[in-house]
Amino acid sequence: MRASTKLKTSLAVTAAASLIAVTGCSANQPSGSSDGGGTDKLEITSWWTSGSEADALNVLIDGVKKGSPGLSVDNAAVSGGGGSNARQALAARLQAGSPPDSWQVHPAGQLKSYVVGGQAADLTDLWTEGDWASQLPKDVAEAQQVDGKYYTVPIGVHRGNVLWTNPSVLTKANVTIDPTGDLDALIASLQQVQDSGTTAVCLGDKDIFASSQLLESIIMSRAGADNWKKLFTNEYSFDAPEVKQALEDYKTILSLANKDHSAITWDEASKNMAEGDCAVNLMGDWAYGELLNAGKKPGTDFGWVAFPGKEDIFDYVGDGFSIPAKNIPHAEAAKAWLKTLMDPKIQTDFAAKKGSIPALSTADISGLSPYQQEAAASFKSAAVVSSLAHAQASGAEFAQTYADAVSTFNGSGNIAAFTASMTQAQKSQL
Ligand code: GAL
Repeated sequence: MRASTKLKTSLAVTAAASLIAVTGCSANQPSGSSDGGGTDKLEITSWWTSGSEADALNVLIDGVKKGSPGLSVDNAAVSGGGGSNARQALAARLQAGSPPDSWQVHPAGQLKSYVVGGQAADLTDLWTEGDWASQLPKDVAEAQQVDGKYYTVPIGVHRGNVLWTNPSVLTKANVTIDPTGDLDALIASLQQVQDSGTTAVCLGDKDIFASSQLLESIIMSRAGADNWKKLFTNEYSFDAPEVKQALEDYKTILSLANKDHSAITWDEASKNMAEGDCAVNLMGDWAYGELLNAGKKPGTDFGWVAFPGKEDIFDYVGDGFSIPAKNIPHAEAAKAWLKTLMDPKIQTDFAAKKGSIPALSTADISGLSPYQQEAAASFKSAAVVSSLAHAQASGAEFAQTYADAVSTFNGSGNIAAFTASMTQAQKSQL
């Protein structure tokens, strides 16, 4: 299913590219509808193809269709958790002058890369018209801006650093994970599970973001929120003792994970945890949506704690959508889409399937799950930082260097090499 979606999409991308080659369309001529203002069609891209992701995306698609009768929506999602395949396909289309009407994007760092490249449209007028900034937490609104202008709209807020747990496996190994405990206590507990004969950690890093995110949670735990932020202003170094300690911890945790981790996806790993294959799985809270979608019962089939560390940190992973600055095939439909995303009821219904919390403070969260109530409270009280694994804390290039360094480190375990790549990338980002 996933492979066929991927194949279909890559065929579609190739077909679009050849169409341009055959017809000789220039970068200024949009493909599809020729007037650029069409209202009958809308094509959107994302990487939401897992069961829960696809269901949540359908809430948005149904929402825009309801408000625009007769609209046909082409869901051009590209599979691959964390979106690296989707972003590659998008880059090819932007390059070819044949963009979709709207694409999924993380705010701040990743968004900035599209803005600097002249690819994302300025949405400031739409923001002013809807008075959206006043309906969002200040930090969330700011993350959608580059140099004071808005270039995306936020649909939800995910927490990246959540440790999902299997209560039966923990009980069987006689282990309790203390939510207020530190990383040393967690590692000791995981070792105890392993000694009891069960794999301690489920990991699925077929898409590398899963291990990048595990490592970033460990670094945050050891270094603290302030130092994490300073990594992106060059006031703290990847060479710091806390980061080196985190890399040692990461190696230990990796040694307690299923050996086939690079062959399985994030959603498979989360479900394997709930099935009892292991005791814990570190994953963003889109895993919450996925576990519900798989029929698992919160509190019974699985539990959760914020990833243990010396303070309560909320690793913010935002989801939103931008539209192209040039060659937009259906500008009016794209605007209707963005307005739909900023409907509080749509944000709540989307969150219920996705596991996130709504970005809008005006969205009613009273009907969302206890997990989501907790996440919403933490987003207000914890130290909020941005994810590097999801290219929010930095630009896309720096995040790619991190992903590559993690991938290499998974094979080599070479701390000096990891540190050298990251300190070099740190210097060149300024
Ligand atoms: C993140 C995204 C989430 C979730 C995850 C796994 O980048 O923010 O919404 O979809 O990837 O695919």
